[in-house]
Order: sequence, then structure tokens, then C-alpha cells
Amino acid sequence: MDKNAPVGVFDSGVGGLTVAREIMRQLPGERIIYFGDTARLPYGSKSRDTVIRYSRQIIRFLRTRDVKAIVIACNTASSYALETVQAEADIPVIGVINAGARTAVCATRNGKIGVIGTEGTIGSGIYTEVMRGMRPDIKVYGKSCPLFVPLVEEGLLHDSVTDEIASRYLSELKGKYIDTLVLGCTHYPLLRSTLRRLMGEEVTLVNPAYETALELKKLLEQKNLSRQGACLLEEEKYQFFVSDLAEKFTSFATAILPGQVKETKKIAIEEY
Ligand code: DGL
Repeated sequence: MDKNAPVGVFDSGVGGLTVAREIMRQLPGERIIYFGDTARLPYGSKSRDTVIRYSRQIIRFLRTRDVKAIVIACNTASSYALETVQAEADIPVIGVINAGARTAVCATRNGKIGVIGTEGTIGSGIYTEVMRGMRPDIKVYGKSCPLFVPLVEEGLLHDSVTDEIASRYLSELKGKYIDTLVLGCTHYPLLRSTLRRLMGEEVTLVNPAYETALELKKLLEQKNLSRQGACLLEEEKYQFFVSDLAEKFTSFATAILPGQVKETKKIAIEEY
């Protein structure tokens, strides 16, 4: 396997850019091929079978770009498809659930953890399963927050509508006296300041994106796959692909990522 090959990162759309951003920060030498499935999002309300089928197609596409490892940046796809695609792939594939779960289990003092995510992620029960596997006495309270994704996509990050919806979603979790909250969806780190204000300083917010980048770093080191090559220009280093609305993606990506995104290519993902 070529150490200088890129890492493939994929999500249902723009949300996974929060994971790509962390990889760029923590592994500045690595090349990234990002795919956002903008034609078929949201994944959060789709069935397991559909999300597995989509994930397989995306992995086939990423393999055509010779990636050396794949990060499933989407919580819903990690919940439904990670195990299946890991068993099929001949390169390392990681998701975002384990890293987030591990951090939450280490962070909690009272053993009560909240998880917010899409209907798919919360319905799958995966965070509970993984966290209980790590510490059986832990209490996990899941809450799906389906309106957060469209609010973020509309750019309503600091808005009274978002505040109102967030306080309704979070009131249930506040009543459980959780001391740790996992932001179990790619879009939620973008609502961090609202969530922080509503939950209070004493609740630790866990962003799986940060931990996933750390996990990727360790994985590449262990497998002797860390990139050694010379520095590259941004446009050579990071390439972006979507299944629809390439221009909209480019502006969103430029707003989220540290550097300017010059180009996003649209591909026909159903052909893979
Ligand atoms: N990327 C998805 C996740 O992290 C959120 C958006 C969607 O539902 O597709 O679960």
C-alpha cells in the first residue's frame, strides 16, 4: 500500500466536513478525497439496507481513487454500515462511533451520558451498545434531533428558532442529570455554542470528529501508512466530490474549512 495515497472520507453531505476539518488540523500532511452524497441525503431517516447500499457504492468510488484508508464521517452510516463494509474491505475502514463512545465513557463522572443524533443513529442503539461494552454500569440516554440537520444546512447556527428547538430536544436529557453529551451527528458540532449554553458548563460535550481524527492518526502510524511525501498545494492535497449541487457544496466547504475550496466535482454515484 502506498503511504502517499490519500485517505477517503465520506458523509451523506456537507456535515462530514467537520470530521475532514479535524483530520486536516491533526494530520496536516495527509491527502484527503472527500465524498458528500448530496443527491441522496439525509441518511438519518433512511433504512439500514439503503444506507449500506449507498456506503458500498461510495467505497467502490473511493477505491477508484486509490485511497489507503477510509473514514466514514457520517454517524448514521457508521451505525448501520461500518461492520458490514469493514468485513468486505481490504483497506482499513473506521467510523465515528467508537471514538466518540470511548471519550464519553472516559469523561463521565456520574455514569450518565446523553447521546443526540439522527433517528437512524439513535434508533440503532449503537452508542449504548458500544458504551455499555466498555463500561456495563453506564446509563445512556439517546435523543434523536431530526430538525438540527436542516437548521444547520439553512445556516441558522445562532438563531432564536434553533434555540427554541434545541431547548425542547434537550429538556428531556437535562431531566436525566447527564454530565456528558455526545454530539452524535456530523452537523451538531456546528451548534456547539447553543448546545453548550443550554446544557451548562458542567456538562462535557463530546465531539466524535476530534477523536476520530486521533484514531485515524494512530491507525496510520500502526500500519506504517502515514504520509511521508513532500508538501503539496491545497488543491492537490484535498479533493472534493459530490453526487449533486457541487457549487453549493463548494461555498459551504469554504465556510467550514480553513482554506478556500476551489472546486468540487459532481459524479454519478449510482454507477459505482
Ligand atoms: N451525516 C449524518 C449523520 O452524521 C447527518 C445528516 C443525514 O441525516 O444525512 O448522521
